[in-house]
Amino acid sequence: MILHKFKNQADLDRAAADLIISAVRAKPNAVLGMATGGTPVGLYQEIVKSYQQGLVSFKEAKTFNLDEYVGLPITHPESYRAFMQRNLFDHIDIRAENTHVPNGNAADIDGEGRRYDEMLYQQGPVDLQLLGIGHNGHIGFNEPDSHLSRFTHKVTLKAETREANKRFFNSLDEVPTHAITMGMGSILHAKAILLVVKGMEKAEILDRTLNGPITTEIPASLLQTHPRVIVMTDCDVEYKVSHS
Ligand code: PGA
Repeated sequence: MILHKFKNQADLDRAAADLIISAVRAKPNAVLGMATGGTPVGLYQEIVKSYQQGLVSFKEAKTFNLDEYVGLPITHPESYRAFMQRNLFDHIDIRAENTHVPNGNAADIDGEGRRYDEMLYQQGPVDLQLLGIGHNGHIGFNEPDSHLSRFTHKVTLKAETREANKRFFNSLDEVPTHAITMGMGSILHAKAILLVVKGMEKAEILDRTLNGPITTEIPASLLQTHPRVIVMTDCDVEYKVSHS
């Protein structure tokens, strides 16, 4: 892993956006893995600025989002499809048919997971996967557990995840109880991964992700096994490269 530390979130957002933009400029038909939540909003704004300045085009790019709530209409502003349209897709030249978000309203969610993995398999691998991290170490919505799934699947959200996401809804009751997420296999299959971690309250989980044991109880710790992970953060953490 490579750890880049930033003094402020504005610099972090710019650097993260630049990495994604570089990937698309180097390979215009890049496949990008996208994330939602509070973390990527600022870096998406930076991407939009660069697009408006004519510095990058997404005409040939494809995107695959990590996850989506189950049972939340896509017209709901907090659906991840709506989030992506509002924060990125509506402001750049990506083709609608090249943007993929799992369908959390599919009648057959297991079948939707298979359909999504099939598309990923045919169009992937993902060139650059953007990730945030939950306070409990989840990536996508792969929650801590005694085992993790490889494929795209339905998950029951942990109480702490619903509590953390309550800020986007009117009340806890409105936060969906289930989601569909890419599995660890798809995430780790990406050629390169950009993990963005903001806020000192995530310093401890980032330290455990970087330096703790690899465990399914901290799904992000599996990133230690991936050969190309770049971590960008404003947290005061170190990456310990030796046993000492
Ligand atoms: P956040 O969520 O960016 O809203 O903190 C990150 C995550 O849960 O993966």
